[in-house]
Amino acid sequence: MIDLDENTVTDATLSQMATTGDPRLKEIMDAAVRHLHAFAREVNLTPAEWLQGIAVLTEVGKACTDIRQEFILLSDVLGLSAVVNALHDKKAKELGTQSSLLGPFFREGAAELPLGANIVANRTAPEIVLYGQVTDNNGTPLPNALVQAWQTDEHGLYDVQAHEDAHMDMRGNFRTDANGNYHFRTVRPLGYSIPMDGPVGKLVQMQGRHGMRPSHIHMLITAPGHRELVSALYFGDDPNIGSDTVFGVSASLVVEAKDNADCPIPGLKSVRYDFRMPKAADNDTGRVGADPASFVKAAE
Ligand code: BEZ
Ligand code: FE
Repeated sequence: MIDLDENTVTDATLSQMATTGDPRLKEIMDAAVRHLHAFAREVNLTPAEWLQGIAVLTEVGKACTDIRQEFILLSDVLGLSAVVNALHDKKAKELGTQSSLLGPFFREGAAELPLGANIVANRTAPEIVLYGQVTDNNGTPLPNALVQAWQTDEHGLYDVQAHEDAHMDMRGNFRTDANGNYHFRTVRPLGYSIPMDGPVGKLVQMQGRHGMRPSHIHMLITAPGHRELVSALYFGDDPNIGSDTVFGVSASLVVEAKDNADCPIPGLKSVRYDFRMPKAADNDTGRVGADPASFVKAAE
């Protein structure tokens, strides 16, 4: 029998969990317990604060629906998703295009469109073109790669926010051609605030943060034998390019819409971006994030 105090309870917990069969589960839970206990000791957590934390997490859970994942949003604003992304990039067999956040607005099953199609149904802003080549790390083109793109409209709204019935819009899936090339038309998305009407938004407000994400287009690229790439392209002239609330921007992902002589649709401003896909390692688990609907389905 040990004398439990705020320090010895940590060893007692770890020793009781020592029977965990799965070694990775054991490693993760041991570290989680050590860090959680150290956190409580560091801030001298009171019962009222502990209860408040439980209440916030309960609210985060309640805010989740099949089109909204408040837990991912919480991970994002705490920078945890960005840490996981960076670790994931480092674990790759080869370093390809840098990852960025999947975010809570990815949806499975967007329409597959012909190259050159516009992904925005009703447009009030000038069209731009996004184009480039998908290759492996040696520059060999990857034909028939699946390029999924999604973004806000020119007012800063995703389809689930812009359309009452949440029908899919501002998103489209494309296949690269025989030379690994892709191109599609869109409008320049407006930067936007992360959803502020839930418990995560309330926290961000209490922290005096602006809650904005700079203008960006999400890209999810899949090619057999290669590591799935979750990334996004960020427009460099957005006023919030240096202060993204969810830490998704990296210098290598910053772009500009301009006149490009080799744009497949002449006369439109365009962004050229070539994606490099690293080879998949064994047991490579890819995606950092998921369609919110998949969590709701799994919980049923
Ligand atoms: C997004 O880019 O869609 C996003 C990412 C993290 C939090 C909110 C939105
Ligand atoms: Fe986004």
